[in-house]
Amino acid sequence: MNNSADPIQAPPPSWFHRHRSKFAFLALSFAAAAIAVSCATSGTNRGFVLAPAIPGAEYVGSDACEQCHDTITKHFASAPHARLIAQGPNAVDVGCESCHGPASVHVESGGAARTILNPDRNPESCYHCHSNLRGQFALPHAHPVGEGRLTCSACHSPHSGDAFAGTASSLTSANEACLTCHKPQRGPHIFEHEAMREGCLSCHAPHGSVNQKMLTERNAVLCLKCHFQQQTGPGRIAIGAIDHTTFLSRGTCWSAGCHEAVHGSQVSSSLRF
Ligand code: HEC
Ligand code: HEC
Ligand code: HEC
Ligand code: HEC
Ligand code: HEC
Ligand code: HEC
Ligand code: HEC
Repeated sequence: MNNSADPIQAPPPSWFHRHRSKFAFLALSFAAAAIAVSCATSGTNRGFVLAPAIPGAEYVGSDACEQCHDTITKHFASAPHARLIAQGPNAVDVGCESCHGPASVHVESGGAARTILNPDRNPESCYHCHSNLRGQFALPHAHPVGEGRLTCSACHSPHSGDAFAGTASSLTSANEACLTCHKPQRGPHIFEHEAMREGCLSCHAPHGSVNQKMLTERNAVLCLKCHFQQQTGPGRIAIGAIDHTTFLSRGTCWSAGCHEAVHGSQVSSSLRF
């Protein structure tokens, strides 16, 4: 949604004001959904949660969207979500409405504003099925999705082809997606760290992590995944043919004075500075 602006920056203060009515509206519809959930679940122990929805709307099926959104419907068959099949009473055709909610009100109004959900404004529609991700984004170090700063669609394309932005079937394009926002990590660096070829995900969790900087491991274990640790004598440890015996107890490999330039360096082959 904010892809044209610098996505690293928080949206300007006016952003919330412009969208305030929508937030209020969505809050209302989620409240309605919550009430429906408690009614539906009373008397049973099933962990059944209704999808977020516009109050009063019903499912109409994806064919109804074609008339007005043909550029999206035309390519939708190539998206993984187009293969989803609903179960239960709404088994018509979940396609578009699995993420956008029941659309009868939207269709009948000819596409009036605020008659349909947009997951870019609230990722609850995604969490409805991917409920494990609500937890990932709530971890102490996570991408700020749902705070109005970053959306799922910054990294995932919902409507066509591979769900990963930049059709990331190759690692290079997976990195490209990250580098559109994280320019300092791009380089070019005179001294490359070859780990970058393996991709950002060899060290970072994409959604969130308990570790600082969304790292997959909190300490030297991160680096020792690839860098062999050798016992060169009684109590002596070498990494990359350099004696590291006393270094490892001083902190992480990338703390001050050691390999700070983990993404690549302009001055040092041992990736300092
Ligand atoms: C009669 C025409 C019409 C039909 C049918 C229709 N739409 Fe729309 N839709 C519009 C118009 C007009 C807009 C507002 C302008 C725009 O964003 O293109 C819109 C906007 C949207 C938006 C963006 C809303 C927002 O606030 O960001 C979504 C999502 C959407 N439609 C989904 C659907 C889905 C899903 C279907 C099928 C179930 C559907 N539409 C059927 C006309 C239609
Ligand atoms: C996997 C969830 C998902 C499914 C399934 C899905 N959408 Fe979307 N849709 C999104 C997200 C996320 C956005 C906001 C990001 C964007 O604009 O690409 C969006 C935005 C839109 C918009 C407004 C932006 C625009 O480009 O005009 C329309 C219209 C729309 N979707 C229609 C559809 C239609 C029609 C279908 C079925 C053919 C569909 N969507 C299926 C997630 C989904
Ligand atoms: C109706 C349930 C449903 C909703 C809503 C939904 N998804 Fe999915 N999604 C699925 C299923 C099922 C899969 C396939 C899982 C698998 O094959 O392991 C999937 C797969 C994915 C994948 C992985 C695709 C791949 O190629 O491996 C991504 C990324 C994804 N969804 C993102 C989203 C986003 C972003 C949204 C909200 C805009 C969303 N999903 C909404 C059910 C849903
Ligand atoms: C900063 C980029 C980024 C954002 C933002 C992001 N994702 Fe992802 N997501 C990824 C990457 C990269 C992977 C591939 C992870 C892997 O292969 O180990 C992934 C994997 C997935 C998967 C498949 C694996 C799994 O964990 O189930 C789903 C589903 C998914 N994302 C959904 C979402 C949803 C929903 C949102 C928004 C609430 C979202 N993502 C936001 C980058 C992102
Ligand atoms: C659409 C823009 C965007 C994309 C794409 C993106 N990020 Fe981010 N990233 C952000 C924002 C915004 C922050 C939060 C910065 C802040 O809080 O100051 C962030 C923070 C981070 C942080 C630092 C977290 C911390 O605790 O300081 C890491 C590491 C990171 N992203 C890695 C990645 C990786 C890996 C990818 C690709 C899978 C990626 N990012 C894709 C926007 C993006
Ligand atoms: C070899 C492991 C490794 C790889 C590969 C890697 N990173 Fe990192 N990254 C780190 C470490 C370690 C830190 C923490 C550095 C620190 O705290 O000084 C970090 C920090 C970051 C930060 C936060 C920077 C800051 O100043 O707070 C961002 C953003 C980031 N990485 C993005 C990326 C992106 C994008 C990629 C892929 C192009 C990537 N990283 C690949 C290890 C890695
Ligand atoms: C995904 C695998 C991988 C990970 C994880 C990884 N590296 Fe590397 N690193 C390599 C490869 C491959 C090379 C180049 C071959 C070599 O020198 O071993 C390299 C080279 C280096 C070099 C340069 C050696 C020289 O003198 O030329 C340093 C320093 C280094 N890595 C430090 C780190 C640190 C610190 C971490 C943890 C933040 C780390 N690496 C994590 C794969 C990795």
